[in-house]
Amino acid sequence: MPGSEAAAAIICRGLSKTHPGGVEAVAEMDLAFSEGLTTALIGPSGCGKSTLLRLIAGLDMPSGGTVSILGRTPAEQRREGAISVAFQDPSLLPWLTVQQNVALARRLARQEPDPDHVARLIALVGLDGFAATRPAALSGGMRQRAAIARSLVTRPRILLLDEPFGAVDELTRRQLARDLPPLWQGRGTTAVLVTHSIDEAVTLSDRILVLSPRPARIVADLAVPLPRPRPADLDQNPQFRAIASLALAALSCG
Ligand SMILES: Nc1ncnc2c1ncn2[C@@H]1O[C@H](COP(=O)(O)OP(=O)(O)O)[C@@H](O)[C@H]1O
Ligand SMILES: [Mg+2]
Repeated sequence: MPGSEAAAAIICRGLSKTHPGGVEAVAEMDLAFSEGLTTALIGPSGCGKSTLLRLIAGLDMPSGGTVSILGRTPAEQRREGAISVAFQDPSLLPWLTVQQNVALARRLARQEPDPDHVARLIALVGLDGFAATRPAALSGGMRQRAAIARSLVTRPRILLLDEPFGAVDELTRRQLARDLPPLWQGRGTTAVLVTHSIDEAVTLSDRILVLSPRPARIVADLAVPLPRPRPADLDQNPQFRAIASLALAALSCG
């Protein structure tokens, strides 16, 4: 099973999901995610990436097989506040400000309030000055950034990000890809990131899984042994380009 050499934090066994209407999105997937590492999932649109992430998050039930997270079910881990998600359509509470939305995540995970940490995260995602603003007055990219701050504020053991930068402009994306990973990497957090961008996958992750068209199958499992923290000009690095080329080749012949 790929990735099972180090202690696995997330183990999927025979995982399958057929959606209502008979769409087979994930079929018999065996997969392990090593504790403390960031794994990027890339694959063609509609191949089952979001389905896989929702199964791991315990937001959807599998049609077959199991997900085990640090020895327990996703539902149990969610109740304990161990899992954080930031998905493409951020579901911020419209009547709360950015600050209140982010702080609420700590309360829901039964953690002590930490206003300084909340303020630092809001600044890090570039929303300084918008802490007292409600979601309706933010752009889509700003709402996504608020959702990213919310996902990190509990210092989760499991972090699941589904195209979290999709609506964010290119320059901010690059800045977030550089500034955010140190917040969870090196803290034992196991992160799974779905992205459309090969460069983003290489920049952010320790490992890249390239998926085939639906139902998702792993067509490449690439290690990303680049130094951390990753420098701003990383995409000029020959090793970076070599990994990106392998990922593109796998995606193309998926
Ligand atoms: N709730 C749902 N009901 C029915 N079909 C779904 C549902 N969610 C996803 N699908 C279908 O499952 C397939 C995989 O979807 P998804 O996991 O969202 O792909 P990806 O995230 O890789 O783009 C697609 O064909 C999609 O239309
Ligand atoms: Mg998706």
